[in-house]
Amino acid sequence: MFKHAQLESVKAWIGDPAHGAWPLHARLQRAIRQLILDGTLDRGRPLPASRALAKSLGVSRDTVESAYSQLHAEGFIERRVGSGSFVSAQAQRLPGRGKPQRTAVGRLAAPSLSQRGHAMLQGGGVRDFLMPRPFAPGVPETRSFPLPTWERLQRQVLKEHGTLALLHSPPQGMAPLRRAIADYINLERGARATPERVLVLTSSQQALTLCATVLLDAGERIFIEDPVYHGARKAFDAAGLACVPVPLDADGMQVDHLLAAAQVPGEAARVVFLTPSHQFPSGATLALDRRLAVIEWARQHQGWIIEDDYDSEFHYAGKPTACVQGLDPHERTIYIGTFTKSLFPGLRIGYMVLPEALVAPMTVARTLLDGHSAPIPQLTLARFIEGGHFGAHVRTMRAVYAERRDVLARLVRQHLADFVEPRVPTGGMQMPCVFIRDIPEHEAVESARRAGIDLLGLTALHASSRPAPGQARAGFLMGFAAHAPHELEVAVRKLADVLRALCR
Ligand SMILES: Cc1ncc(COP(=O)(O)O)c(C=O)c1O
Repeated sequence: MFKHAQLESVKAWIGDPAHGAWPLHARLQRAIRQLILDGTLDRGRPLPASRALAKSLGVSRDTVESAYSQLHAEGFIERRVGSGSFVSAQAQRLPGRGKPQRTAVGRLAAPSLSQRGHAMLQGGGVRDFLMPRPFAPGVPETRSFPLPTWERLQRQVLKEHGTLALLHSPPQGMAPLRRAIADYINLERGARATPERVLVLTSSQQALTLCATVLLDAGERIFIEDPVYHGARKAFDAAGLACVPVPLDADGMQVDHLLAAAQVPGEAARVVFLTPSHQFPSGATLALDRRLAVIEWARQHQGWIIEDDYDSEFHYAGKPTACVQGLDPHERTIYIGTFTKSLFPGLRIGYMVLPEALVAPMTVARTLLDGHSAPIPQLTLARFIEGGHFGAHVRTMRAVYAERRDVLARLVRQHLADFVEPRVPTGGMQMPCVFIRDIPEHEAVESARRAGIDLLGLTALHASSRPAPGQARAGFLMGFAAHAPHELEVAVRKLADVLRALCR
């Protein structure tokens, strides 16, 4: 028989609301298992007869039988015909089980991680904004997404492919989607893509991680824009690459730095990361002579250009410049695209258009990250693009976002003119605003966050903490796409209060 305390402990475990989702026999089995693992029930100790235990607990004998059978099947107890059940000789007490190590102040003790693991944790990852609050950058408007159309196309996919759509996708992506992507970017972005060169991924973030690990070894140098997209920088840091910041001006990255570095032993790098259509965060467009110069650099030095074309669908003054990939006859450019902004972030579909020689290495490497992308969304998206819905959605949203950009620029000039100057972008979903007064950026971002407003500080996107003479850099990015004009107005007024309080 159980001692009184043991019986009470079993009763408490069974009655604990935290375990309420499990059936009674499973709760009883876990409660007894716990007593064994804690050492409360020693090896060889007899267990109560099932009828007696059922009576003491007020449960049916079947429930106890079922718990005992499971304990027996898992090796915790032995059952001997005629003499009953005993804690098995195999069952050992696990010292300190169930109690993760804590520090003196009760925090979880730091786990022992690799240096890379520590660096990733310290870096904080790429925080995506779950519920878009104003002015989370890069978040699209999803409330007006044509869900009925998406649902209809998904139903068609399931009807046509049946249970085949439940199987694995080829790791490179489903053929109809690769075809649709190639046709779209050839037409809209002036790319040179074929379906055979498209690798469908879950995001541009995944593309950046693949580039970082497949093209370079830890310790090797990579040229990055300064300031730079933090997601790229973190992917490169996590891969152990040495990021070499290259300054920008109004025409984008100063590519002559790459050419000069190539002449100095130890300063060259084989890869450059660029956001040429719409530099993140400044909004600059890489000038044509620099595009041609970077292509020539890549040809001469067998370098790679990583072109992150993350939001070029949204250009508000005529057509955006064609992508670098389409200008490059030497196949040194890797083009990265995403549907996070043009459709919706939950879709989790991004892609790369690769030089032929990189298709197999990148595809094989992606199988080690996540195998492949989910087939049903891929096939639905292919239909969405082929049926003209993607083009129509982008056109609608372009007009919506252009208006929101103008509204935000007006609101910033009206309500925040004492604190910041807006740098109104020609495209994209966010507006950089630089401080014109001495305002501590970190405090501004934190106070705004407490007031329900998300801002991305500009300073941390810069490589060095000291600005070049005459270069203003403190400020923030304000995303404007996800909120209607009246919502933008409420938030700007609130932000004005926050900044006013900081300046007092
Ligand atoms: C420059 C840049 N690249 C890529 C992304 C992210 O795209 P994805 O969700 O596909 O990783 C963002 C998102 O803010 C971005 O600003």
